[in-house]
Amino acid sequence: MTLVQIRGVTKAYYTSRRKDRARVVLDNVSLQFEDNEFICLVGPSGCGKTTLLNLIAGFESPTAGDVFYKGTKITSPSPERGVVFQEYSLLPWMNVLDNVKFALCSSDLSDDEKDNVALRALTMVNLSDSAYQRPNLLSGGMKQRVAVARLLAMDPDLWLMDEPFSSLDEQTRKKLDDDVLNIWRIKKKTIVFVTHNVDEALHLATRIVLFSQSPGQVIKEWNIPTTMSRDPTSSSMIALKKEITDAMPACACADICPIDIRM
Ligand SMILES: Nc1ncnc2c1ncn2[C@@H]1O[C@H](COP(=O)(O)OP(=O)(O)O)[C@@H](O)[C@H]1O
Ligand SMILES: [Mg+2]
Repeated sequence: MTLVQIRGVTKAYYTSRRKDRARVVLDNVSLQFEDNEFICLVGPSGCGKTTLLNLIAGFESPTAGDVFYKGTKITSPSPERGVVFQEYSLLPWMNVLDNVKFALCSSDLSDDEKDNVALRALTMVNLSDSAYQRPNLLSGGMKQRVAVARLLAMDPDLWLMDEPFSSLDEQTRKKLDDDVLNIWRIKKKTIVFVTHNVDEALHLATRIVLFSQSPGQVIKEWNIPTTMSRDPTSSSMIALKKEITDAMPACACADICPIDIRM
């Protein structure tokens, strides 16, 4: 079943107060995500990956084109489409349990039931011992585990994950990647996962979608069968990594351009 259909989507932002100038950040993007796929979106910084996730989440709307979820046009956020953000998104004045329960605020469950669902989700991510702690006492990896627990509690069919572990150390990132992979396998979710790390994409994805430099367009897609070895030292993985890396456009955005100190 097709879960997400992105049809001819262009997104532009006004860059002047009088709205007479705009910058196109996504240019005529068409993509389709099927049930139970694990899609990794890769591409240079600033090419519109976060913008695309925001459009699927329903936080933003396209300038042209449409995004559909299960055949219905997306016009607003929905608990069917859960998001894990790149930056920690916990509310500092609430303990961990209440942060997870917050994701259930639009559900009909009683407070006790919400407690149970949230505690079960925290147990699944090994954080039940921290349920009554404030987020400021947690490490970065633990904070992102709480974000994953939120999605487990909400139980959306579609998980949108925007470089969720990119600020963590390599070892913690790999552990959390494997945890997400297990959740995907066991709970049969559809995951759209943004990363700039080709190794991470090769480890996780059943399909990798590569974007061009800004304005973002789809350059190429690779299907990776679940039966294919994910051993990074295998000849098939080395060849695929080279193919993707060779096709990867250089980043031309302001945040990595060298600063001209003569100015
Ligand atoms: N709300 C906004 N208003 C104006 N420009 C934006 C807004 N959101 C993103 N952009 C611009 O759109 C471009 C793409 O951003 P983004 O989707 O965050 O890229 P990526 O996630 O691939 O790094 C960037 O140049 C960014 O500055
Ligand atoms: Mg981004």
